[in-house]
Amino acid sequence: MEKKTVEDIEVKGKRVLVRVDFNVPLDADTDAISNDSRIQASLPTIKYLVDHKAKVILCSHLGRPKGRVVEGLRMAPIAQRLSQLIGLPVSTMPGCIGQEVERKVKALREGDILFLENVRFHPEEEANELHFAQELAKLADVYVNDAFSASHRAHASIVGIVKYLPAVAGFLMEKELETMSRLLNNTEHPFACMVGGAKVSDKICLVQNMLKKVDFLLVGGGMAATFLKAQGCEVGHSLVEEDKVSLAKDLLREAEEWKVPLLLPTDVVMAEEIKAGAKTLVVSTKNIPPNSYIVDIGPQTIELFCTELKKCHTIMWNGPLGICEIPQFAQGTKSLVTFLAAVNATTVIGGGSTSETVQEMGLVDKMTHVSTGGGASLRFLEGTALPGVEVLPDRE
Ligand code: 3PG
Repeated sequence: MEKKTVEDIEVKGKRVLVRVDFNVPLDADTDAISNDSRIQASLPTIKYLVDHKAKVILCSHLGRPKGRVVEGLRMAPIAQRLSQLIGLPVSTMPGCIGQEVERKVKALREGDILFLENVRFHPEEEANELHFAQELAKLADVYVNDAFSASHRAHASIVGIVKYLPAVAGFLMEKELETMSRLLNNTEHPFACMVGGAKVSDKICLVQNMLKKVDFLLVGGGMAATFLKAQGCEVGHSLVEEDKVSLAKDLLREAEEWKVPLLLPTDVVMAEEIKAGAKTLVVSTKNIPPNSYIVDIGPQTIELFCTELKKCHTIMWNGPLGICEIPQFAQGTKSLVTFLAAVNATTVIGGGSTSETVQEMGLVDKMTHVSTGGGASLRFLEGTALPGVEVLPDRE
């Protein structure tokens, strides 16, 4: 069911509180924004509201300040970047609720943009405390949720606030929901799902849910080690979730029952140490040396994965195929990004570090959709309802 959006309501002259997710990565040394794609992704909603003469009040979290004020997690630099991107002034506040904020909101004119302080400076936010939600709601006439990537959190600015204000989805929320729902319900086949990332435990529910929907399942990244172990391969020093080996066996069996080819790496890059400059060796997965770690998929696997994916009309990918924080071990992930950018299929990148790699390579425009949601898109594709989406009313 489609959600009501900003286009379904009158916003002119209204105070519109927009929950965005501008939880952007910051450089560890300088606190500078290292990737502003989440800000860019919400620009259509903010521009629409400005153009339709709403008084725009933006609200977001940044980082995990645990209910305390953390100077390095203030919203002002984010507001400044938004101002540059949208080409309009964006004013900020040292708080997100209270009389001073209410006075500032009262003085807003049509088309003005005000950015509230980090909503997680208040412990009541994560506790979904209703009084806090009510204080936020007091600032506005209408609530817009454009924060798909934070909507797996039942927090006050995402869930509680909807008790007190008419609520609709923003354009980014609409686009994420449309794309993800189509993948789950009526996508074009053949459909492949490629998963990677460090741990099987993070992706079990995703794999289980997708097995019933896809024609191919491809597994790479750290989690492949547990699957390889389940098939009886040695994996050297690579992290194996011993308590998940039997589950990996179950998944391999289930894939067979569903007649879904589950492809594992046939060769891997091994390194004696997980650090830049480490000596590496490409080996067959049948022949993994005992004293080293799997750090990437090998060239034969890259070819195998590309050959299978070429047969597909829809490809969904979540999780890197190697330890791609270390550029030397990012070859597999990057090769697949390059391949997907050129393939003639619907390509959906499911958030988190996979999306970041696509952004760093400048290939976002070549994909059908690059999700802003890491945890949220994972939950959605697992088939779990997102609390922030559930509370939004459906379009009639
Ligand atoms: C994210 O980056 O996935 C969202 O902003 C949610 O952040 P959180 O994991 O700190 O709740």
